[in-house]
Amino acid sequence: MSRAYPIVDHAFDCVVVGAGGSGLRAAVGMVEAGLQVACISKVYPTRSHTVAAQGGINAALGNMIPDDWRYHMYDTVKGSDWLGDQDAIEYMTKNAPAAVYELEHYGVPFSRTPDGRIYQRAFGGQSVEYGKAQAYRTCAAADRTGHVILHTLFQQALKNKVRFFNEYFALDLLMDEDGACAGVIAMNIADGSIHRFAAHVTCLATGGYGRVYFSCTSAHTCTGDGNAMVLRAGLPLQDLEFVQFHPSGIYGAGCLITEGARGEGGYLTNSLGERFMERYAPTAKDLASRDVVARAMTIEINEGRGCGPNKDYIELHLEHLDPKVLKERLPGISETAKIFAGVDVTRQPIPVVPTCHYNMGGIPTNWRAEVVAPKNGDPDAVVPGLLAVGEAACASVHGANRLGGNSLIDLVVFGRAAAQRAAELVRPHSPARPLPKNAGEEALDRLDRIRHANGELTTGEIRLAMQRTMQRHAAVFRDGPSLDEGCTKLAEVASRLERLKIADRSLVWNSDLVEALELHNLMPQAIATMHAARFRTESRGAHAREDYPERDDVNWLVHTLVWVDRQGGVTLGTRPVHLTPLSNEVEPIPPTKRVY
Ligand code: FUM
Repeated sequence: MSRAYPIVDHAFDCVVVGAGGSGLRAAVGMVEAGLQVACISKVYPTRSHTVAAQGGINAALGNMIPDDWRYHMYDTVKGSDWLGDQDAIEYMTKNAPAAVYELEHYGVPFSRTPDGRIYQRAFGGQSVEYGKAQAYRTCAAADRTGHVILHTLFQQALKNKVRFFNEYFALDLLMDEDGACAGVIAMNIADGSIHRFAAHVTCLATGGYGRVYFSCTSAHTCTGDGNAMVLRAGLPLQDLEFVQFHPSGIYGAGCLITEGARGEGGYLTNSLGERFMERYAPTAKDLASRDVVARAMTIEINEGRGCGPNKDYIELHLEHLDPKVLKERLPGISETAKIFAGVDVTRQPIPVVPTCHYNMGGIPTNWRAEVVAPKNGDPDAVVPGLLAVGEAACASVHGANRLGGNSLIDLVVFGRAAAQRAAELVRPHSPARPLPKNAGEEALDRLDRIRHANGELTTGEIRLAMQRTMQRHAAVFRDGPSLDEGCTKLAEVASRLERLKIADRSLVWNSDLVEALELHNLMPQAIATMHAARFRTESRGAHAREDYPERDDVNWLVHTLVWVDRQGGVTLGTRPVHLTPLSNEVEPIPPTKRVY
């Protein structure tokens, strides 16, 4: 077919898609290993969503009280409600201190203790001595930790001469006939030109898909583009039913108020002024694991003890804290509360509600960041040439529920692991990998179809219907009949894509087209999430089924796999959880009842 746009071919040793914390850490490590690296990002790198991470990054440095990576591992396995892979969790927690010191040496300006060490705060679900006392493990740069990490890694990437393709929208993976990944095809948003990147290793670092929900802390750009490319390549996603609702999103606005606010001594109350977390988590209280706090808040609201005229939010109190703590440790959220809730945190509580924050599920990988998919009876078969890191990936270190502060450490530990794996797999400057015949043709046909869509519905209208369906049927609490209805409704909403209208046909900086491409990426992930939630008939971590309130280790101590075909057809399956650690330095942590 003749095309309206030029096609430019590139060849690199590695191509990284996404320039948030994990993508940049992977790219920097690959260049340090002598590889030629392209980094494609749909936004300018410093606008990537890592910039919004606030409270900190977990590593057992022991700067405040003695700590040990084994305690961090135990807390992470327990936090995951035993769905996390223990080999990957051991790898992450053991390598966390080195990864944080590396960030410090790269130039991250962490907050400091009086004696000059990295400041560490309390976060939810974290303990020392296997549950005995609260840990202080979350390394912080005030409440702007993601911001400083992202900027520092970007500076390292520029210094190391990573080749950036900024404001390029990745359209699809280029898969060869043997099922290996040979690169990626992307559109330059500025001029509509098409670029095919041949690479020995393609690393997806495209973030989560929080924007399938109506209310979320995620940026508008969090549309899981890599996840959708994986589905279109005929590969599965894993554990999508596990969606984290952060306890403190600002009521009405959705902006994040860091868990660090509770870590510094903040607490939640209902309309009776009760510190209700004492009833739900007598030991950890406001610093119980996120899923526990979000559920407790939802119950308080549902039972009529919410605050405000509509009794539909909870109050987060910081007004009792020393103003010096607010100024030094929580300056960002003090400003956010003022702007988005009109609240002066030194005098008034902040109205908050559980808000979609993080996707535990994503592209299944092993601890080396290699993408895996079942093949010939092997549930852990590696997809050659394809890596995934960060929120896009499911390693799985978070299992059914992620601990606060474990996201940033996941980014840098597995970004580094991806670079190490790429260095093992690729000889620097080896001859370009040949692209498959007609590489990217299907993606370009799809692009043309979407660009010329001439129905009567706007992208915004269809997206809103999808988001409302997700918010209504797949939020903090779920049950069978509601999930059945959610699946049916989503199928209907997805069919509306046939009636999409693109107002602007141009190829040049066409944000209408970009948002339509994002919506086409979001839709199969919404469908996959709803179906996976219906499939899993138990409650575990963030997946709370009112009709199956107990965890069921006999039938469900497995990862969910979900495939979605081009017509929206869903196939579900499972894959074993890795219950054995990587080394013999630790024993497997067997499932027990999870109490805080
Ligand atoms: O509450 C927060 O600062 C968020 C941290 C995280 O999600 O890891």
